[in-house]
Amino acid sequence: MAKRILTLNQISVRGLERLPRERYEIASEFTNPDAILLRSHKLGAADIADSVLAIARAGAGTNNIPVDACTQRGIPVFNSPGANANAVKELVAAGLLLGSRGIIDGVDYVAGLRGISDAAALNQALEANKKRFKGNELQGKTLGVVGLGAIGSLVADMALTLGMDVIGYDPALSVDAAWRLSSQVRKADTLSMVFARSDYVTLHLPALESTRGLVSAELLQAMPADSCLLNFARQEIVDEDALLAALERGGLRKYIADFPSPALIGRKDVILMPHIGASTDEAEDNCAIMAADQLRDFLENGNIRNA
Ligand code: MLT
Repeated sequence: MAKRILTLNQISVRGLERLPRERYEIASEFTNPDAILLRSHKLGAADIADSVLAIARAGAGTNNIPVDACTQRGIPVFNSPGANANAVKELVAAGLLLGSRGIIDGVDYVAGLRGISDAAALNQALEANKKRFKGNELQGKTLGVVGLGAIGSLVADMALTLGMDVIGYDPALSVDAAWRLSSQVRKADTLSMVFARSDYVTLHLPALESTRGLVSAELLQAMPADSCLLNFARQEIVDEDALLAALERGGLRKYIADFPSPALIGRKDVILMPHIGASTDEAEDNCAIMAADQLRDFLENGNIRNA
């Protein structure tokens, strides 16, 4: 009998193709599914039917899944670490550029010139205002990378290609990641050392009890006044009250994050994106393929990978 896979989000077709129709029935509604395949749907423990044998997430983090409850019930939870790392890395590159150059204000300014039909008048307006949008180069600046897993290590390599000096910090650095990491990435002994010595700090950590509020008032205080903090990982890693206080006292030039937060929206010293780090066709395909393959390997062979 075909296995029933309940999909709780739109999953890339390339991923679904890994579950052949002769062996799998896939639908967004089932009363007794054998497995759940999802992306960002917030799943409650009570939503998981007794029939469920495994859950797979087409994404890296598992904080939308009640993992402890699943573990107690013997349900493996698979995720797709690394499958969207390149997409996130590229958005971090954009974040660094948005933090260093007057791109957002400059683009807004040009959009406001709509209606000036005379090229000479347009030029005059640009010449008179261009200086307002002057920025700084990334080359020669220091980037602190907190978390050197699949995403952090790619970000470190990308920053090296921009001519940045990179300091990395990861107390749980795996042997594999250490091998992958360029020897040009200097390792910091403490987190405060990274915050104190960096012009830009970028966070690449999962949301865990131990990382909640990790970026504290103390760490923010250690940052040079002209520095920028990038958070393309999880919102709760940064203590938002401490962040607001740091921005208010001018202790930080910019906060650039991939999450909108009501207290931060509209501030000139904040750039917020709508959690689009992994939103590329390629990343969605890669994550869905990895999640579907793991589910199939478990349902057909009992193998557990990445759980
Ligand atoms: C992830 O956990 O993979 C990212 O937050 C991206 C996402 O799922 O949208």
